[in-house]
Amino acid sequence: MRYFKSVNDIGDLNAAVKEAFDVKSRRFYFKNLGENKTLLMIFFNSSLRTRLSTQKAAMNLGMNVIVLDVNQGAWKLETERGVVMDGDKPEHLLEAIPVMGCYCDVIGVRSFARFENKTDDYEEKILNQFIKYSGRPVFAMETATVHPLQSFADLITIEEYKTVQRPKVVLTWAPHPKALPQAVPNSFAEWSNAAGYDFVITHPHGYELDERFVGAARVEYDQNKALEGADFVYAKNWSAYVGDNYGKVLSTDRSWTITTEKMALTNNASFMHCLPVRRNMIVSDEVIESERSLVIPEAANREISAQVVLKRILESL
Ligand code: CP
Repeated sequence: MRYFKSVNDIGDLNAAVKEAFDVKSRRFYFKNLGENKTLLMIFFNSSLRTRLSTQKAAMNLGMNVIVLDVNQGAWKLETERGVVMDGDKPEHLLEAIPVMGCYCDVIGVRSFARFENKTDDYEEKILNQFIKYSGRPVFAMETATVHPLQSFADLITIEEYKTVQRPKVVLTWAPHPKALPQAVPNSFAEWSNAAGYDFVITHPHGYELDERFVGAARVEYDQNKALEGADFVYAKNWSAYVGDNYGKVLSTDRSWTITTEKMALTNNASFMHCLPVRRNMIVSDEVIESERSLVIPEAANREISAQVVLKRILESL
């Protein structure tokens, strides 16, 4: 595997989940695979889980790890070609990327949507420049439009906890005070569709996601109706995608917060969220602290999804 940004890059999904269970049961078995290989993790944005779990996964495989926080200690990077660089950015990404490629064997990139230009965000300008100019395998650690390491971990978690072959999985929008990207819901939709779940997306009008990710999912604007009979409730906020509202907060309606009353509509569903989560905006204290909350096992599986992806990349070097 040279690149990882989509469910299509992982190949057969059943085989990938099976491999994840295998890796989880013997995570140090492959520790020679990464000997003398270096992972460079590049963060344009903050992280707790992705940073720790991916580094841990690389260490399980025997890799060396370098972490670069672009905004702390590195030269400020210009990302646009054609700019007269007479401002506060002394280095261009087009030199920085191949230089970074000199010092490592694999690169992970975190670079969120900027909400300045929808086309630039959805063309994944930053990630694709790393793919084009680094000369190294590159994987997404949440980019402008996708978060596949998270969705793979989510899928592993659902497969671990499901009690029926084809669970009803509901992705629900929930309120948040700030404009968040669509990366997590996009990828969750893409991976849930690929898994063949009975998959429903619910959100207020105006929060429609990109059709390329929604795929065959059912969209239900009535959250209560969507939650009926759900086996898994995946809550997430995202900002508007459609039209001129791209990147805007259209609603902070707290009647969409996942509460005990909302969970009572489900089939004793498990609650999921990628974290970090704003309590009592997205989900009530009671729900996230309940026995049905999977947020910690879900976060733990980030190590496993990262290890499978890095293992596949190392096997292809
Ligand atoms: N879920 C997730 O990616 O968490 P971080 O932003 O902390 O990495």
